[in-house]
Amino acid sequence: MQTVQDAAALRALIRGWRAQGQTVGFVPTMGNLHAGHYSLIKVARARADRVVASVFVNPTQFGPNEDFERYPRTLTQDQVGLAENGCDLLFAPEVATMYPFGMGQSVSLHVPGITDTLEGAHRPGHFDGVATVVCKLFNLVQPDIAVFGQKDFQQLKVIERMVKDLSLPVKVMGSATSRADDGLALSSRNQYLSAEERLLAPHIHATLGQMRDLMAKGHAWRVVEQAATAKLTKLGFEPDYTAIRRVEDLSEPADDEKTGLVALIAARLGKTRLIDNLSFD
Ligand code: PAJ
Repeated sequence: MQTVQDAAALRALIRGWRAQGQTVGFVPTMGNLHAGHYSLIKVARARADRVVASVFVNPTQFGPNEDFERYPRTLTQDQVGLAENGCDLLFAPEVATMYPFGMGQSVSLHVPGITDTLEGAHRPGHFDGVATVVCKLFNLVQPDIAVFGQKDFQQLKVIERMVKDLSLPVKVMGSATSRADDGLALSSRNQYLSAEERLLAPHIHATLGQMRDLMAKGHAWRVVEQAATAKLTKLGFEPDYTAIRRVEDLSEPADDEKTGLVALIAARLGKTRLIDNLSFD
C-alpha cells in the first residue's frame, strides 16, 4: 500500500487505475483506526477494484472546546492496518492541502434541515465541516463508491443529502456498526474512558435496545425518550439527547408511527462524549 500526501500524486495514481478501467472505492477517516474502520475497507474492497482511504483530522468539524488537539494521531499503526485489510492507497494530506486559503477564507458547505437537530444542535458547525471536507475529498479521489459507518447515523444522512443535492457522481453506502463483545460501539474516543467508565459505557447500547423494546410494546416515543434519559442519568451519564426519529430524515415521528424508526443517543461519561444508534426493522 502506498501513502501519498499531496493531491497531484493522488490524482496521478488514480488516473492510472482509471485508464485500466478499474473502479475506485473510498473510505474517509480521521485515523486512529480500529476494526470498525477496517470493516468499511472490506466493504469497499468487495465492491470496487481499488480501495483508497484517507486519514485527515479535519479541523473545521471540531468545535472550539472539542478534542481536535488531543485527537489520537497514529499514522504508522494505521498504515499497517490499512495494508492488512486490503487498502491500495492512503491519502494523508496536510491541512494546507485541504484548506489552501486557510480555514477562515475557505468555501464552506451547509446542508440545511437535517443538520439542525441531534448532533447538529449540540455541535454547531460540525456538519458544515464534515460536508465541506467530504466534498473536497470526493473531488480529489473521485470515487465510484464511498463507504460510511452507520455508527455516525446522522453524518451518513447528511452525506447522502449532500451527494444528491450537488449531483455528485458517487454512490454512498452505509455499513453496519462494529461493536465490542459487550455491545459498546468501537470508537477512537473509547480510549479516553477510565477503566470504570469503560464498564459503564455499554449501557448506551443496552439502553438503545430497551428503547426499541419499549416502542415495540406500544409506548409513546416521547415517554421512551424520557425513560432512557432518566436511566442513563441515574447511571452517571450526562445525556445530550436520547431520541426516537424517522430513519428517512431524522424528523420526529407521528404518535402512531412504529416503523422506519431509529433510536439515537449521545451522552457524556466524564470527559468523553459517546454516540450510538439502533434502527428498528
Ligand atoms: P471517523 O470518526 O474516523 O470515522 C470514519 C468512518 O468510520 C465513518 O464513516 C464512521 O461512521 C466509521 N466508523 C467509526 N466507528 C465505526 C464502527 N464502530 N463501526 C462501523 N463504522 C464506524 O467520521 C469521520 O471520521 C469524519 O467525520 C469523516 C467522515 C472522515 C470526515 O472528516
